[in-house]
Amino acid sequence: MSETTPVSELNEAEARAELARLAAQLQRANRLYHAEDAPELSDADYDALKRRNADIESLFPALKRPDSPSDQVGARAADGFSKVSHAVRMMSLGNGFDDDDIADFDRSIRKYLGLSSDAPLSYTAEPKIDGLSLSLRYEKGRLVQAATRGDGEVGENVTANARTVGDIPHDIENAPDIFEVRGEVYMSHADFDDLNARQVASGGKTFANPRNAAAGSLRQLDASITASRPLRFFAYAWGELSAPIAATQMEAIDRLRAFGFQTNDLTRLCPSLSDMLAHYRDIEAQRSTLGYDIDGVVYKVNDLALQARLGFRSTTPRWAIAHKFPAELAWTRLEGIDIQVGRTGALSPVARLHPVTVGGVVVSNATLHNEDYIAGRDAKGGAIRGGKDIRVGDWVQVYRAGDVIPKVADVDLSKRPKDSVPYAFPTKCPECGSDAIREDGDAVRRCTGGLICPAQAVEKLKHFVSRKAFDIEGLGAKQIEMFHGDPVLPINTPADIFTLQNRDASNLARLKNRDGWGETSASNLFAAIDEKRAIELGRLLFALGIRHVGEVGARDLALHYLDWDAMAQAIDAARPAALAQRKADAAEEAERQAAASDNRRARVKEARDAAIANSDVPPAAASAWSDLIGIDGIGTTLGLSLSDAFANPDERRAFDDLRQHLTIVSPDAPASDSPVAGKTVVFTGTLEKMTRAEAKARAEALGAKVSGSVSQKTDLLVAGPGAGSKAKKAADLGIETLDEDSWLQLIGDA
Ligand code: IVH
Repeated sequence: MSETTPVSELNEAEARAELARLAAQLQRANRLYHAEDAPELSDADYDALKRRNADIESLFPALKRPDSPSDQVGARAADGFSKVSHAVRMMSLGNGFDDDDIADFDRSIRKYLGLSSDAPLSYTAEPKIDGLSLSLRYEKGRLVQAATRGDGEVGENVTANARTVGDIPHDIENAPDIFEVRGEVYMSHADFDDLNARQVASGGKTFANPRNAAAGSLRQLDASITASRPLRFFAYAWGELSAPIAATQMEAIDRLRAFGFQTNDLTRLCPSLSDMLAHYRDIEAQRSTLGYDIDGVVYKVNDLALQARLGFRSTTPRWAIAHKFPAELAWTRLEGIDIQVGRTGALSPVARLHPVTVGGVVVSNATLHNEDYIAGRDAKGGAIRGGKDIRVGDWVQVYRAGDVIPKVADVDLSKRPKDSVPYAFPTKCPECGSDAIREDGDAVRRCTGGLICPAQAVEKLKHFVSRKAFDIEGLGAKQIEMFHGDPVLPINTPADIFTLQNRDASNLARLKNRDGWGETSASNLFAAIDEKRAIELGRLLFALGIRHVGEVGARDLALHYLDWDAMAQAIDAARPAALAQRKADAAEEAERQAAASDNRRARVKEARDAAIANSDVPPAAASAWSDLIGIDGIGTTLGLSLSDAFANPDERRAFDDLRQHLTIVSPDAPASDSPVAGKTVVFTGTLEKMTRAEAKARAEALGAKVSGSVSQKTDLLVAGPGAGSKAKKAADLGIETLDEDSWLQLIGDA
């Protein structure tokens, strides 16, 4: 046997020896690469070794080593950075845009915590730095790892680069043994101007704005380039800690400063909403003289014990919000309107603009939303922009807020060309010619072609392989365009991706001969596809591209149902109730329109109740439906869309075909070692120590399922004073019942 013996020719003893050799070689390569920044293997050679290891493991699964390189995060990614799993997820922030949003934020926090509107509750307020977030891990006071945010769970290992940033200490004293500091890497305006001047002088590329410059500089494969770039770092948060560093946010910031980090001088403690808003105005007034970009103000609940009670929604903390600054504006000429067809068939008008700089970024495309927006109407037929329509040739105002897609906001009628005509929105799909129709109550015109519309099919596939969905290395939007509709080797449905390599033996050869495809890239692609045959349920659901099912909703559904088949069965079972719901909504809407005056309000509700009563929904359907739309964050809109998708024969076939090729993994219920993980819990009566919302969120965070009604499936009833029929039913069914204190004891919160 040699290192090049084909895997298929190895016997068992040889395979065992080869796996040991590969483990040692890859371990050494990892060490040289990560810890010593002195790689001796090229990325391609490294990948080849990993693949050989994986191939042998798949032929001899029993020989897989406990220290198998396949299981090691910190494997080198194809783009040159290894991946780092964050010990504590890196969150993003919810956004507010005006004072009312911030008042709502404060109100909802008080409601969640059961605090009255005048109970004392302080927040910190600090600038939101427009850079990129970075997590720094210190072990026993030494900087051992720096990672970008990535998708929040897995980021890129940029340790060597972070070490070159002057504001980032390599050693700190008196810190907890494990100490993750989080903050923002940014570039000052002066340094940005100098850097761009140097880039021009050396013929390098210039950066559009300081944030891009900071991101481009930190993500250099060669750390000596990062070292030559003037990056800075503000610390404002933390991740894993082996011991707490403070009791309040404000104290924590002070400690970070004492450890030697830069913290922002404009961080203030605000005892009331009006103080928060006053500090916002103050920061806004200083914005142009700070010398670095900020895009808003971040408010955080000061008391860390309250932060812990408030916890997180799937990707954002409940205890913080970003109050964004108003968007930046510019005027330019509208040169044309293109229609794009999205994955749900929506016809989206896109403005083609004479290029213009808006807040440091050159903008040549902007969204026009939908046909009403172009016509100057809102969804209810009322006037927007004073009823002014938008025409090709018009002088239009473009605005941009942070990363959001630029929008056309206004139009200057005094500059309208004499010969301009109102824009006629197409009623046929520009891609497949099918009728494009608008359903009642839908602001969007949609192509009715479904999966026969190439644009819809391609967009669905692009979404399917995108980063937050299947994320298949080497199969991105560009490759989907190439494979879709290919006469010999088509990818027309998600399932086609997984049969690509076994459709016939000549496929590989054909792939090899295509532009840009060599033998390695083809087999790399097949390996990358194989890697994704096991997929987490939430990711899969998100990948399917069902309307209204976003990343968060998909995750919530997955955590609720845990299993594809159980979920599909529940959705099927709920179908009659979903249809009844749609009818009832329509009846309600019809009656609402008829009820022009207030005196007929009552009829609206009657119409709805009558429609439901007449619909004859079997109790099992009603219960499956109320279970589905009762999931926190899933409402009727998402529920109906999901139900429609599963009931549509073409879509269902595509799901079922796909399913054959996948191993669907249940999501990790958070904290599954809790005694309530996996249990179905019902709360009833008055809770005295926390609000219903908090109790529900706490239970769900521990992996329990919270239901609104008692049934055979209920494991536990938590009954406060005043509990009535539910407590009785639970007793009849022999379901364990606890009072609030025993519940808190059970979950370790007493
Ligand atoms: S706190 C768990 N504070 O904004 C809360 N974030 O839009 C973590 N950011 O990903 C974030 N300045 O990169 C926080 N003073 C600040 C910030 C800040 C900038 C960034 C951060 C975050 C993003 C969310």
